[in-house]
Amino acid sequence: MIHIKDKFSIQKMAQAGSLLSDILVRVEDLIKPGVSTAEIDAWIESQLQKKGLISSVKGYMGYRHVSCISVNDVVVHGVPQADCILQLGDLVKIDVCASWNGYCADMARSFFVGQSSEQAQKLVDVAYQALKKGIDQARVGNRLSDISSAIQQEVEKHGFSVVRDFAGHGIGRNMHEAPEIVNYGKPGKGPVLKEGMTFAIEPMITAGKYNVYVANDGWTVKTVDRSLAAHVEDTIAITNAGPVILTSSSEQQNNASLS
Ligand code: MF3
Ligand code: CO
Repeated sequence: MIHIKDKFSIQKMAQAGSLLSDILVRVEDLIKPGVSTAEIDAWIESQLQKKGLISSVKGYMGYRHVSCISVNDVVVHGVPQADCILQLGDLVKIDVCASWNGYCADMARSFFVGQSSEQAQKLVDVAYQALKKGIDQARVGNRLSDISSAIQQEVEKHGFSVVRDFAGHGIGRNMHEAPEIVNYGKPGKGPVLKEGMTFAIEPMITAGKYNVYVANDGWTVKTVDRSLAAHVEDTIAITNAGPVILTSSSEQQNNASLS
């Protein structure tokens, strides 16, 4: 069952989302050669604390960090580590989920350490475009797989691949709620979208084949062919006025007329 949120619940998610988006904007300043992913995670943890956000990830199935930081061929669920040191040219994905007054927002961004190669930049650009196309389908009366299909089409149009083994999800009081939102498939299938549904939409895409595996640590998800991967994620609410991105600044949310 897909839980429908009232205005007050969505306002709390929007507050979580705007505070989180501020952190994910400012984290870019830390992304420099020589910085470890553990240091970035520690900074994010201090920021969550300052803003009164509670990590949804620390303690989840024994996970010990507040973020997943995934470098290059790591797609998602990269575990922050003191000996994972960023180098020039690395493609870094940072994924953070946290709650404010009991309501969650989930967000991921892809960054480069210094300069990127042209192909890597294109991969990241396509991930953001695919996210945008997916969000644009999150409209009252559409079906769930319209989101999935729009993402796949955008990614494959540019010759990249969509990871099959992980998906976006409903979100609210819990980080993961129904439905599962895969990033591929035919349009026009699945539940009809309604006002008050709140989704975390998150294309995970690769420059090579879509096959991935989980490393021995039980978390790190990597591409089998070692191709580069990009991952971006926003939490959105479906309203009668269209999709509203909750993981954006409060000014942007006001412009989208959440209230
Ligand atoms: N934020 C991730 C998501 O989009 C959750 C990963 S949390 C972990 O679903 F604990 F599983 F690492
Ligand atoms: Co998510």
